[in-house]
Amino acid sequence: MSLATPIAIIYGTDTNNTEEVANKIAKQWSELGQATEIFNISDIDANTLTQYDFLILGIPTWDFGGIQSDWEDLENELTELDLKGKLIALYGLGDQFGYADYFLDAMGWMYEKLQSSGATFIGQWSTEGYDFTASRACINGKDHFIGLGIDEDQQFELTDERVEQWVIQLYAEMMAEME
Ligand SMILES: Cc1cc2nc3c(=O)[nH]c(=O)nc-3n(C[C@H](O)[C@H](O)[C@H](O)COP(=O)(O)O)c2cc1C
Repeated sequence: MSLATPIAIIYGTDTNNTEEVANKIAKQWSELGQATEIFNISDIDANTLTQYDFLILGIPTWDFGGIQSDWEDLENELTELDLKGKLIALYGLGDQFGYADYFLDAMGWMYEKLQSSGATFIGQWSTEGYDFTASRACINGKDHFIGLGIDEDQQFELTDERVEQWVIQLYAEMMAEME
């Protein structure tokens, strides 16, 4: 398959893990023949999100449920964006043992901030295989995260497989949304 336009992968990062996962996601899409464009949110402004029909947004959680600072700086702009008709998939990075009460909280924050944008969210991910106490990124009880959860601190060996499965899932969900 190939969508008519590239998918934008936009991430924020403090210590580059979220950037590395962005590159893995892009590689997986390229194996499916789909072009992507990758941006660090610190290099662009929030309006760039309006220029793509398909967005994959990546955010790590810092400091006990804190929001990665470059994304947090855009909080007001994010809540005002008009993203009607667009598909958004979120991925978050966190540490489930080190911060079990705040695992992936920033991904939940991102979802909350973009709720009023009119976008459709795809890419929910099962919480099976993770061990944590609480997460703002959980929806429908504790069964699913709103997007892909990646833990480079405790489960780095699962990252490649999780990314691969998630991109295949996104592909199917995008096709279904476009029918
Ligand atoms: C001081 C510190 C605080 C952190 N706080 C959280 C947290 O509250 N929740 C969480 O899930 N992960 C937390 N983490 C883990 C980071 O999110 C994780 O290391 C992530 O991979 C960093 O991504 P980045 O390299 O893209 O910035 C924390 C890590 C450190 C060192």
